Amino acid sequence: MTSSTQQSRPETRLPSAPGAEWWRSAVIYQIYPRSFADASGDGIGDLPGITSKLDDLAELGIDAIWLSPFMTSPQKDAGYDVADYCDVDPIFGTLADFDAMLEGAHARSIRVIVDLVPNHSSDQHVWFQAALAAGPGSPERARYIFRDGLGENGELPPNNWESVFGGPAWTRLVEPDGTQGQWYLHLFDSSQPDFDWTNEEVREGFRGILRFWLERGVDGFRVDVAHGLVKADGLPDYTPPADAASMGGDEQNVPYWGQPGVHEIYRDWHGLLAEYDGDRALAAEAWLPSPAKTALWVRSDEMHQAFNFEYLETDWHAPKLRSVIAESLAAYGAVGAPSTWVLSNHDVIRHASRLALTTESPQGNGIGPLSEAQPIPELGLRRARAASSMMLALPGSAYLYQGEELGLPEVVELPDDARQDPTWFRTHGERYGRDGCRVPIPWTADGSSYGFSASGASWLPQPPRWAELARDAQRGQSDSTLSLYRRALAERRTHALGTGSLEWIDEYGDDVVAFRNGAVTVIANVGSTPLELPTDATVLLTSSPLEDGAVGSDTTVWLVGGA
Ligand code: NOJ
Repeated sequence: MTSSTQQSRPETRLPSAPGAEWWRSAVIYQIYPRSFADASGDGIGDLPGITSKLDDLAELGIDAIWLSPFMTSPQKDAGYDVADYCDVDPIFGTLADFDAMLEGAHARSIRVIVDLVPNHSSDQHVWFQAALAAGPGSPERARYIFRDGLGENGELPPNNWESVFGGPAWTRLVEPDGTQGQWYLHLFDSSQPDFDWTNEEVREGFRGILRFWLERGVDGFRVDVAHGLVKADGLPDYTPPADAASMGGDEQNVPYWGQPGVHEIYRDWHGLLAEYDGDRALAAEAWLPSPAKTALWVRSDEMHQAFNFEYLETDWHAPKLRSVIAESLAAYGAVGAPSTWVLSNHDVIRHASRLALTTESPQGNGIGPLSEAQPIPELGLRRARAASSMMLALPGSAYLYQGEELGLPEVVELPDDARQDPTWFRTHGERYGRDGCRVPIPWTADGSSYGFSASGASWLPQPPRWAELARDAQRGQSDSTLSLYRRALAERRTHALGTGSLEWIDEYGDDVVAFRNGAVTVIANVGSTPLELPTDATVLLTSSPLEDGAVGSDTTVWLVGGA
């Protein structure tokens, strides 16, 4: 073990009274390591890059960071294809770099959550390589989902499941003796074979992985595809509706999503985390049909948080927003969990573009130059600022995705030959995928990679408008998106909004989302009629300037006082 295991824990990591744990109200900032900051100069972000920017994160005012995978990986799915769960991929640095980053974050009272990918490994994982070598019926194959094919010579896949990234969810092997062999299941890319979670060896293996990172000092895990680990008995055929979101979302009774068997796994992990001090937490990435369904993942003996994708997927429409907020608070509250709130991540179109698209684009499809759906940039940014201001006033925990505090839009115009998402390749360019939200972020208005990389290189090309959106260009401007986020996070802390409660205000009509959270009144004008402010109110923040003292369209204000 390295010295980090002995490092002193910041006082903020002392156990909290039940009900006051940090994760109930934290603002958690997602770092997508490849695209955050590149210290080595190879054009791909890395752990030393993150360490070098911790002061900027502290200045922003977040409580925790979540790091997308940085473990050893051939990077076929940008690190969500893990070959060694207990080491750092050389492109991101070393375990010592991780320890330094963790120590630096803790020194600034920033907690650190790492990504855990338990549904599948990389095909380069030693277990999968052993399974290939060992042949049908072996204990090595039993850690994954291998099946004989259908048809006279096993030439047909064992069922009709489609991969989330397009194409079949099964790949046929050539056996060690050179003959056509069994098929293995991969809900994602063919380089990401699914584990068989009925196998105790898999369960024990992951307990070891959890312990490895807990002992290094992490504060918790974001659990990838937490709705997918268990598959229905017999692997029955299933055809999703044509417009289904790629990760599930609205679909009911899918044999590979949301199977009841997953819950005992999370109960097991809950107990394991509880052996460690400091309120370590599990956050479920589970795309499920409703807050009530997702709430099952955060019952008091399972995970601590679940991403509220229902909220993320809600249109900029006041009645729908009021309803998803009310439904979320009720559903999570019923099981004693906080609601979370999220608008962007590395899998969806950035909300500064998504909230003003000319037409819908299902999650996972992305947008590109030839898409029917195109963003309306100014409207998108205005709505994004209003939406983020509303989200950060809600009680519970909020997730931010790197770059949203700069108002970054989706990058639509990436050249085809720059794209790297497996979705793009597996659908032969029919779906653009997620590269547009993963473009390395701008730190400085000058410099060939806008301060992202020491050498000026960037693994995805950055657009010219990154200059005006760069952090240093926004830092001194009181009306910049960065300043808005900083103000919102500071006022959220001052007024303890994360641990507060919501009381609806109905008097503003259908096109408005208005509520009180403690002393703060929040009015989001989602419609087009300007709204007069209550008399004598003090404005804490406004997402766009007031218009003759009134709240214009697509604008959120926070107020205190006033009649
Ligand atoms: C969800 C992750 O967020 C996504 O980026 C990844 O491609 C899939 N899970 C597969 O691990």
